[in-house]
Amino acid sequence: MTHKIAILPGDGTGPEVVAEGIKVLQALEGPAGLKFEFHEYDLGGERYKRTGEILPESVLEELKGFRAIYLGAIGHPDVKPGILEKGLLLRLRFTLDQYINLRPVILYPGVDTPLKDKGPEDINFVVVRENTEGLYAGAGGVLKFGTPDEVAVQESINTRKGVDRCLKYAFALTRKRNKDKKLTLVGKTNVLTYAFDLWERAFYEMAKSYPDITTDYAHVDATCMWMVKNPEWFDVLVTDNMFGDIITDLGAMIQGGMGIAAGGNINPEGVSMFEPIGGSAPKYTGQNIINPLAAIAAAQMMLDHLGEDKAAAAMEQAIKTVCANHLKSLQAGKMGYSTSEVGDLVAKYAADNVK
Ligand code: IPM
Ligand code: MN
Repeated sequence: MTHKIAILPGDGTGPEVVAEGIKVLQALEGPAGLKFEFHEYDLGGERYKRTGEILPESVLEELKGFRAIYLGAIGHPDVKPGILEKGLLLRLRFTLDQYINLRPVILYPGVDTPLKDKGPEDINFVVVRENTEGLYAGAGGVLKFGTPDEVAVQESINTRKGVDRCLKYAFALTRKRNKDKKLTLVGKTNVLTYAFDLWERAFYEMAKSYPDITTDYAHVDATCMWMVKNPEWFDVLVTDNMFGDIITDLGAMIQGGMGIAAGGNINPEGVSMFEPIGGSAPKYTGQNIINPLAAIAAAQMMLDHLGEDKAAAAMEQAIKTVCANHLKSLQAGKMGYSTSEVGDLVAKYAADNVK
């Protein structure tokens, strides 16, 4: 079976890291008996500056016809913040109804964590972030703009349906992961008494259908504390869009930084999109020094999502080997290897592992 994948290299170092992810996928084709068909789309800051287009309707329609989307990075130093984020990234997430943002936080052997006395056995959890509602829904407005009487309202939208489908994904994932079988709801029930009351009721109601899963609750501020102090307490965390955004940046740092952190925007019934969660890092563009592992890890999540379990496992093992035995650091310019050399290494190990 041929997997048709849309490639959105995007801005800055996006194209460089995506090229390495594709390299690894192609290296797996023969040994794993896979076939990919890649279609590249020119979207991002450069195109916007050139043509004024962000995401043409026709492209959006075409994207609905792929098995998955592989995205590099969005963000351009000459484009005002918010334009590309809203017009491209969030529009894709919303229009394709990618209601889960899945972000594994795994410390691989050989990778430095800023957490003292914590190792790979302590940092291995997954955040399930709701990805289409909450504060990101765009509800609210502004009155008397630019005057001393200005009023700005930004509301968090939480629908029972949206919360339920997110929780269902998280419960099922906790069961499938089969680690501690523990699911932690992250919220702020002591202050956001409408939104997180809904989440909490839905959570404990659904828990009745998953008697094998241990449920837990933590406020978001305390979660930040535990993620630093006792990350080993976590298995799967589920939370709303805004809190998920914030805690996964913290998660990325404890797993070794933006050089390794990957995520998936998932619509279990539709087209999902995989991306490194760091930005476009424009200052490193074209130097062949950016770390491609986050993009490679995103490609690995995509393989897993496509049901190619064996190839995905081979790829994950290859990433681990490269971290453990090769890279001096995960930071751009300090890896001891160039961007393309890191891609070569992962490609070689992945192909060997799958044979
Ligand atoms: C992320 C990013 C985006 C978000 C931005 C770029 C809109 O921070 O993927 O976490 O807030 O979701
Ligand atoms: Mn973010």
